[in-house]
Amino acid sequence: MAFGEEKSEKAVEFLKPGTVLRNRYRVISVVQKGAYGIVYKVEDLKTSSIYAIKEMISNFTESIDREKARLTFEREARLLSQITHQNIPCLHNYFTDGGVYYLVMDYVEGINLSQFASRYRGKHLPERDILEWGALISDILTYLHSLPEPIIFRDLKPANVMITPEKRVVLVDFGLAGMIKQSKKGAPRGGTPGYAAPEQYMGYAEARSDVYSLGATMYYMLSKKKPDRRGKANQIEPLRNLNPSVSPITNALVMKAIEYDISHRFQSAEEMGDKIRAVLELGTVICPKCKSINQKGSQVCFECEAALTRVEQSDVFSGQAFVFRSGQQASNPEELLLIAENNLDDGVYHLKHGHFESWFEYIGEEQLSRIARRMRVQGGNMEEGLKKFLKYARL
Ligand SMILES: Nc1ncnc2c1ncn2[C@@H]1O[C@H](COP(=O)(O)OP(=O)(O)O)[C@@H](O)[C@H]1O
Ligand SMILES: [Mg+2]
Repeated sequence: MAFGEEKSEKAVEFLKPGTVLRNRYRVISVVQKGAYGIVYKVEDLKTSSIYAIKEMISNFTESIDREKARLTFEREARLLSQITHQNIPCLHNYFTDGGVYYLVMDYVEGINLSQFASRYRGKHLPERDILEWGALISDILTYLHSLPEPIIFRDLKPANVMITPEKRVVLVDFGLAGMIKQSKKGAPRGGTPGYAAPEQYMGYAEARSDVYSLGATMYYMLSKKKPDRRGKANQIEPLRNLNPSVSPITNALVMKAIEYDISHRFQSAEEMGDKIRAVLELGTVICPKCKSINQKGSQVCFECEAALTRVEQSDVFSGQAFVFRSGQQASNPEELLLIAENNLDDGVYHLKHGHFESWFEYIGEEQLSRIARRMRVQGGNMEEGLKKFLKYARL
């Protein structure tokens, strides 16, 4: 359909397989229809290469919508042509045909994260996969944010992240992306409700807005619910309330990324990536007081300055598990109590050094943590203390 033509909104016509565009690109199949475009898998008849072509949906009845769509496409073409990154499709060509706009880019084998999540119906996705993808997305954002003219992606969400069969992550859809300079207050609002940072509702976007959207994407992937703020400072349900199997440290990480206040989030995508990797490598410690994530080895919490040494030096954490000095591991309180009961010497040792209370705090068992602390500070015969602790903890 011609670009200037008036047509009702609903009739989006897909190009039929076999259609040849510009005497060169033969449509193989429709990949996906997005908000602004239809993506096709095509063959370049000149080189026999396979590409993806994104066609701008052009049947908007309002001229203002058509103009917006045209600008979106031009922006996407301009930005993509400036970027060379292995996790972003390379732009090969762009053209208009019959007034319709087309982008020719690398074809990405795979599905987007929204499709991926819907395959896990009624089940939660593996936390480790989400953390790994989160770290890779942080790297791509870090690249964009540190270009000589930084690019803010502005529309990070599961549908705009593709995952290949070999688990490579690719960022697609640069329709809303832009330089910081262009997105000062007053610029059009961009992004998708549920994923866009609150400041984007006021027409402002910067690197930490992408940090927010990455947090929101991880929140969705781990709970199948969007953290719906709609630009407001309302309380967001902690991720762990929706999915109790999420570890406290991942919960803290995601909730920090989606803080309403920009200054409370990670201050860059790079920092967020570092923190995610630290969680993956277990080189972090969560502050018992304010729950911030700190680098292992820190003496005091960077956020509230509470002492971290006791937790640090205990050296009894392996991921979520508690490691006894005998090497035995407990992955939940029940197991810990059982191991301590069968090895009172070790139990006394860990109780006396405050290890149990730190670990209970770390896994979010605050009541058990309090009981362990009470028994430790009572002093006296520690074996008696341990027995009392085992008794009270089971009540
Ligand atoms: N280069 C590509 N190769 C393969 N599939 C793609 C490619 N780009 C986008 N897609 C798929 O098409 C969908 C829509 O594309 P997108 O660029 O996000 O369009 P929109 O701007 O309409 O949201 C994406 O969610 C993704 O699944
Ligand atoms: Mg999209």
